[in-house]
Amino acid sequence: MFIPITNYIPLLSEETMNLHIQKLYKGYLDRLKNLTTDDPLKAVLNISDYPINKRGQILYNAGGVLNHELYFEELNQHGSHEPKKKLKATIEKKYGTFENFKQEFIRISNQLVGSGYTFLVLRNNDLDIVNMSNQETPYSYDMVPIMNIDLWEHAYYLDYKTDKGKYIEAFFKLLDFDVIENRYEQATQN
Ligand SMILES: [Fe+2]
Repeated sequence: MFIPITNYIPLLSEETMNLHIQKLYKGYLDRLKNLTTDDPLKAVLNISDYPINKRGQILYNAGGVLNHELYFEELNQHGSHEPKKKLKATIEKKYGTFENFKQEFIRISNQLVGSGYTFLVLRNNDLDIVNMSNQETPYSYDMVPIMNIDLWEHAYYLDYKTDKGKYIEAFFKLLDFDVIENRYEQATQN
């Protein structure tokens, strides 16, 4: 995976992103390859097909791949920072305004205990905001992830130290809603 540095500097540093992509994300990819040749989504959805003593490692590493890909692909400070199409209407119907949605997302992010992610998901054809621990993925719970924020300390500590709030604010300036809206369109197609 390659992301041009102009997509994220100065909101995230090159050091943070290099470590995140080339070391941490690559670690999940490599470990998953040693466990199964299945693609990560297939592995998560068919976890009961694997021997029980391999399931924990497969779920952890497949989740690590899926969650990081979702996060990296939506980061582009030159993209649109608010939805414009169908997702805009759905967010406004559910949360009133985009700003209200953002505040609710931040409120729930602050409730995450330990390492993990906050996700915007599609659940029963409705939007929801949920926290997942470590590398759990919404796919394991019949939800489709639309957007996420990596709240592991490695995502922000070099740049924001313990100021998680400042990182979350920066994250909203990095979000490319063209990517996020495409996911929403795909998830609601059927
Ligand atoms: Fe991460």
